[in-house]
Amino acid sequence: MEKIVILTGAGISAESGLGTFRDEGGLWAQHAIEDVATPEGFARDPDLVHRFYNARRAQAAEATPNPAHLALARLAREHPGEVTLITQNVDDLHHRAGSPQVLQMHGTLMGALCAACDHRWPAPLVMQPADRCPACAAPATRPDVVWFGEIPYGAEVIDPALNGADLFVSIGTSGQVYPAAAYAQHCRRLGARTVELNLEPSENARDFDEAHYGPASKIVPEFVETLLAG
Ligand code: APR
Repeated sequence: MEKIVILTGAGISAESGLGTFRDEGGLWAQHAIEDVATPEGFARDPDLVHRFYNARRAQAAEATPNPAHLALARLAREHPGEVTLITQNVDDLHHRAGSPQVLQMHGTLMGALCAACDHRWPAPLVMQPADRCPACAAPATRPDVVWFGEIPYGAEVIDPALNGADLFVSIGTSGQVYPAAAYAQHCRRLGARTVELNLEPSENARDFDEAHYGPASKIVPEFVETLLAG
């Protein structure tokens, strides 16, 4: 089996009821990025930021994986060691769908991080500015998510996976946020086949050799079937 790298974005969780960022009425139409998704915004108003992530954490906890998440978990289980799943999403739907390895490059809603000592622990459903770090007791807890201007997680695993990919598949992302938006072009330059599965052409649609457009819960299971039949 060829080495497959899969990148997912908010679109794969849309049919599980979780909002995307840049679609009509999306999260960035409701909230200013600089207020809720930057270190400066957190320093300015930690209560606003915690309330933003508490609401998303509660929604994610209520949501269930859809057929797209389940199809990717099946692909990884049937081809152990051949599939690297990278997600920009901070929900835990890939984990709950049964994907054996999930690389959350933008962190996770289900994790808490101490801004003072870097300690990490499972996030309570509701986080508040007064919460103290269980390790150093500082009142400096934040959601373990990567904000704009911060370095995404996992480059030490992502970069080698991209360099060794035979097939790169992008699912449910608008291709507007880097470094993820450059992955397709990078893999193609190294000889990989690139495929986009999305509701509509993304900003970096030109980087893909093949594309299937439609709802992820339909086109992802269909695509996985063709790979497994391959
Ligand atoms: N099925 C497939 N694709 C869908 C569906 C669906 N049901 N619904 C929406 N989409 C597509 C949209 O067409 C769009 O291209 O999903 C994409 C969602 O794009 P964004 O809202 O920009 O989300 P994403 O690309 O994941 O954003 C990347 O930006 O704000 C940051 O950290 C945040 O991880 C996020 C990053």
